[in-house]
Amino acid sequence: MILLTGGAGYIGSHCVKRLMENGYEVVVLDNLSRGFRDAVLTPHFVEGNIGDRSILESIFSKYKIDAVMHFSAFACVGESVEQPAEYYENNVAQTLTLLTACKDFGVKNFIFSSTCATYGDVKKIPIDETTPIGPLNPYGHSKRMVELILQDFDTAYGLKHCIFRYFNAAGCDPEGMLSERHDPETHLIPIVLQVAKGQRENIKLFGTDYPTPDGTCIRDYIHVNDLSDAHILGLKNLLNGGQSDIFNLGSENGFSVREVIDICREVSGGEIPEVEVERRPGDAPKLVADSTKAKTILGWTPKSSNLKYIVETAWNSMS
Ligand SMILES: NC(=O)c1ccc[n+]([C@@H]2O[C@H](COP(=O)([O-])OP(=O)(O)OC[C@H]3O[C@@H](n4cnc5c(N)ncnc54)[C@H](O)[C@@H]3O)[C@@H](O)[C@H]2O)c1
Repeated sequence: MILLTGGAGYIGSHCVKRLMENGYEVVVLDNLSRGFRDAVLTPHFVEGNIGDRSILESIFSKYKIDAVMHFSAFACVGESVEQPAEYYENNVAQTLTLLTACKDFGVKNFIFSSTCATYGDVKKIPIDETTPIGPLNPYGHSKRMVELILQDFDTAYGLKHCIFRYFNAAGCDPEGMLSERHDPETHLIPIVLQVAKGQRENIKLFGTDYPTPDGTCIRDYIHVNDLSDAHILGLKNLLNGGQSDIFNLGSENGFSVREVIDICREVSGGEIPEVEVERRPGDAPKLVADSTKAKTILGWTPKSSNLKYIVETAWNSMS
C-alpha cells in the first residue's frame, strides 16, 4: 500500500490514478484545504492533516505502508511571502511529524514533491541537479528545508528518499476524469484558458522586456502524467534497493509566455486579450530543466509533454 498525501489536489490526484492503473493500492491523506473530495479516485481516503500524529498512527497501524508519496503542501510563492508562518507550519513542521511517524513505524521509502524554486537565481540554463541551491522565497525555503531533513533522516534512520524537483506542472488527465483546480489559480495555462472561456477579461504579461526572443519569460512545462510516471519509476527504484537521490523533472523545452498564449488561442479558438504590465519581482527570465539524470538513472521518458497536447488536455478538462 502507498500512502499518498495531497491526493485530492492537482498533481496528487493524477498520480493516484496512474498508480492504480499500474496495479498499486493507494491510501490518500488530505485535509481538503486546497483539494477536492471528488478528485480522489481510490476508495481508501482519510480526511485530515499530515501533521496529526493520531491520524498517522491509525493509518500506519491499519495498512502496511511500503512507501509514502508526499504531495501535500501550500504552493503559492506570493502567498508564502505574505504568510511565511503558515508555510513553514504546513510544509515543514507538519512534514516533520509525518517523517517522524514514518521512522517510528518502520517505513523505509519516501518520495517528495520538491520544486525548481529551490534553485533560486540561476546563472546557467539548462538547470541540472548540480546547479547551486538558493531559494528566493519562503515557499522555496520550506521545500529546501524538507530536502535537508530527508537527508538527515536517511543518514540516521535509513529512511530512503527520492526527491523530485518539478518544473511547471501542466495539462490534465486525457480521459477527462481529473482537472486542475487551484483557487486562486496562479499557473499560466489554466489562467490563459480561463480568459479564452470568458471567465477572466484578459491575460497580464508581467514584463515584455526580458532578454528573451519575444521579451516574455520562458518556462519549462511538464505534463502531469509524465510527473506521475516519474513517481512510479522513483518508487520502483527505491523498492528495488536504489539509493536516495534528487531528480529534476522537466520537458527540457522552454516556451515563452507569448508562445503559450498563442497555442492556447489555437487550441481553444477563443479570444485572449493581452495587457502588458510591469515585471514581477523575482521572476527569472528563463527556467528550463536538464532532466538527464532522471532519464539515465530511472529510465524516465516524458511522453506527454508536447505543449500543444498539454494545452489540449487542460482545455478538454475545462469543457
Ligand atoms: N503545480 C506545480 O506546478 C508544482 C511545481 C513544483 C512543485 N509542486 C509541488 O507539488 C505538490 C502538489 O502541488 P499541486 O499543484 O497538486 O497542489 P494542490 O494545492 O492542488 O494540492 C495540494 C493538496 O495538499 C492538501 N494539503 C495541503 N496541506 C495539507 C496538510 N497539512 N494535510 C493534508 N493535506 C494537505 C490540499 O488540500 C491539496 O489537496 C506540492 O507539494 C507543490 O509544492 C507543484
